[in-house]
Parts: sequence; C-alpha cells; structure tokens
Amino acid sequence: MSHKAEPSEYVELDNLNTLHVPAVARFYQDVSDADELMDALAWAEQRSIKVLILGGGSNLVFNGDFNGLVIRICVRGRYWERARDHEATLVLGAGENWHEAVLYAAGAGYRGIENLALIPGTAGAAPVQNIGAYGVELCDTLESVTALDRQAGKVVRLDNDECRFAYRDSLFKQLPGHYAILEVRLRLSRDKPLQLGYRDLEEYLGDRPRSELSAIDVAEAVMAIRRRKLPDPDLIPNAGSFFKNPVVASAEYEGLRSAYPDVVGYPQPQGVKLAAAWLIDQCGWKGFRNQRVGVHNRQALVLINHSGGTGHDILELAGKIRDSVKARFGVELEMEPGVIG
Ligand code: FAD
Ligand code: EPU
Repeated sequence: MSHKAEPSEYVELDNLNTLHVPAVARFYQDVSDADELMDALAWAEQRSIKVLILGGGSNLVFNGDFNGLVIRICVRGRYWERARDHEATLVLGAGENWHEAVLYAAGAGYRGIENLALIPGTAGAAPVQNIGAYGVELCDTLESVTALDRQAGKVVRLDNDECRFAYRDSLFKQLPGHYAILEVRLRLSRDKPLQLGYRDLEEYLGDRPRSELSAIDVAEAVMAIRRRKLPDPDLIPNAGSFFKNPVVASAEYEGLRSAYPDVVGYPQPQGVKLAAAWLIDQCGWKGFRNQRVGVHNRQALVLINHSGGTGHDILELAGKIRDSVKARFGVELEMEPGVIG
C-alpha cells in the first residue's frame, strides 16, 4: 500500500536560510519528485493553506514565521542528453546543488557555466532570478525548464525564450508561485570561447596564456576571486548581493558623473547599470555594524547577520541604506532577495 508523507509541523527554518534568521514553518515537507510535489500542493489546497517553494534559502529573507506549508524541492538527478560533436545537454534535477553541477560540467570539459561557480543554492532556483556572475548569466546556456504549472495542474516544458529572462529577472519571478521548477536543461559546449572579460577575472588571470585555459581553470579562478570578496554563508550568514545594480537612463548617469566623476557604471542597451556597491560604499556603510547585523567590510552590497539578527533587523538596515542612497544620489535601490512574511 502506498503511503503519502504528511507534512511536519512547526519546523525551524533557521538553518534552511543562509542569513540564518529565525523563522518557523507551520507546516514543512521535502519533496523528491513531481508526484510528491503534487500531493503536497493538493494537501495545502484542501486546507486553503499558502505555500512557499524553497530551494537552498540563499536568496530570501524570512521576516517572521511562515504560517503555511514550506515545500523544499529535493528533486535529484544529473545526466547528459543529446551529446553530439562538441555539444551536450546537461539535465539537472531542481534539487541538485548548483555549484557541484558547475564543477561536474567543467570537470567533464564542457563550457558555459564555469563563471557561475560557487553561487549557493539549487539548480531549480537558478532560472528564478537568472543567476549571473563574472560576465555570464544562466540564460546564456539554458535550453529549457521543466516545471509544474500550478494553475493548470500539469507539468510543462518552457524554452529559453518563454522564460522571459532579463538581468536578475524571469517569468518565474514575474509570476511568483505560478511554477514549481522540477528540472533544468543546459546546452554546453566543449569548444565555445571562454568568457574572460570581467575585470576581476582578467586581473586574476594576469599573463596566463588564455588559449591554455580550461573550463575548470576558469571555475577555479572565479572561486578564488569570490572567496576573497564574498563571505561564506556557513561562517558569516548572508544572502549575497542585497540589492540589484540599478539601471538608469544615460542622461541621469551623465548628471551623476558630472557630480561624482568616480561613479561606477556599465553601459547597457537600455541605459547604464550602476554599481550599487559603489553607491552604498560612498554613503559610508561598508563595514557598518550594530550588535546584530551589518554590512560586509569587503563588499558593501552584502548584508550580514552577525549575531542573532532577525529578518526584521536585516530589513530595517536595508531600508536605511536605501534611504541614504536615494537622498545622496537620487537613485532607487531594489532588493534582490525575496521577502517572506
Ligand atoms: P531560494 O533562496 O530557496 O529561493 C529563491 C526564490 O526562488 C524564492 O522565491 C523561491 O520560492 C524560488 N524557488 C526556489 N526553488 C524553486 C523551484 N524549484 N521552483 C520555483 N521556484 C523556486 N546570485 C546570483 O545571481 N549571482 C551571484 O553571484 C550570487 N552570489 C551569491 C553569493 C552568496 C554568498 C549568496 C548567499 C547568494 C548569492 N546569490 C547570487 C543569490 C542566490 O545564491 C541565487 O539567487 C540562487 O539561485 C538561489 O538559490 P536557492 O536554491 O537558495 O533559492
Ligand atoms: N565596489 C565598491 N565598493 C564595494 C564593492 C564594489 O565601490 O564595497 C565597486 C567597485 O568599483 C567594483 C564594482 O563596485 O568594481 C562592482 O563590484 P563587483 O565586481 O564586486 O560586482 P557587484 O556589481 O557588486 C555583481 C553581482 C554579484 C556577482 C558579481 C560578479 C548584482 C546585484 N550582483 O556584484 O551577484 O557575483 O557582480 O559578477 O548584480 C548576487 O546577485 O547575489 C551576487 C553576489
């Protein structure tokens, strides 16, 4: 006789979010495949209980307890599909660890995601904000996403162009809760050019001959750069960049540049992307701390839970940072992590 798992009650989420802020899920369940996911969703629906889909908890802030069902996606599996000539598709279950998948692909000599090494979290969450780092975004290699369309109650496959990817944005972010991602497919290649143009990466590689570099060399370089700058969430709880880099119109950028010649901006098709870290740093926040929370002393875009901070403490500090950047530069910062509760 088949036995459907019932959700657990009153589960602490402190160690299931990388900011390690305290929160309790009224109900909680791990799911390992589409059937378990559908059962858990039906269970919540019957009781009119709200649902949160959770991956590694590295891009959200629990602002208090969650009075609903937290479903953690633990769908495992990693295999190659359609390997032909120099190309192959890597299929990843949504619960696979993203960084391990990067090392697996790069170790097999396949290129495309090596610049995204050491980004915490799961493969299934990677399309949600279209993860990006060191000049590469997930959408550069993503072929398709398999997801449960919760409204239609069926599993669908969405191709890259259907995912509406943009900088730290996607269909999954635009329609929160609509899709639960089960699998991602990445089109990788053994011979496409490595992306080495990001300044930190160029500087790190120095005079190493570019033609001798492999995907794993690049992954290792990215890991070394990240370890110098970004705090390890297991040691110093954080959620990565707390704000997106704001994109402003070229005229606004020119205005800022005449007042602040050092302002850091990168031209984009639709304006100029400003380095939010620079704006925050200029407002004097880098290294700031109170008893519980603060701003990292090597990256002003990273907020830290130093000791016993709550989601409320983090959001209060974020609000002050946002206000000061607005007052000084007239630029609105938008939070990157999602707020729960
Ligand atoms: P979670 O935090 O669990 O969830 C994030 C969002 O996705 C939530 O809205 C959740 O409901 C939704 N979600 C999760 N899984 C699924 C699913 N299977 N189906 C549907 N929705 C889902 N991000 C970058 O882009 N670039 C970086 O360089 C980067 N560096 C980071 C460095 C550090 C130290 C940290 C802590 C974070 C960093 N991040 C970065 C942010 C974060 O790692 C990514 O956004 C990551 O993809 C989140 O994965 P997760 O599994 O932890 O998602
Ligand atoms: N800078 C400062 N002060 C600081 C840090 C940086 O002035 O404290 C300036 C420097 O001029 C630097 C520039 O800001 O050149 C950009 O800094 P960095 O290269 O560290 O990148 P970032 O814009 O702060 C973005 C992503 C990161 C990603 C890195 C590398 C966003 C919001 N953040 O950070 O993603 O890893 O580039 O590509 O786009 C994340 O999303 O969680 C994340 C960590």
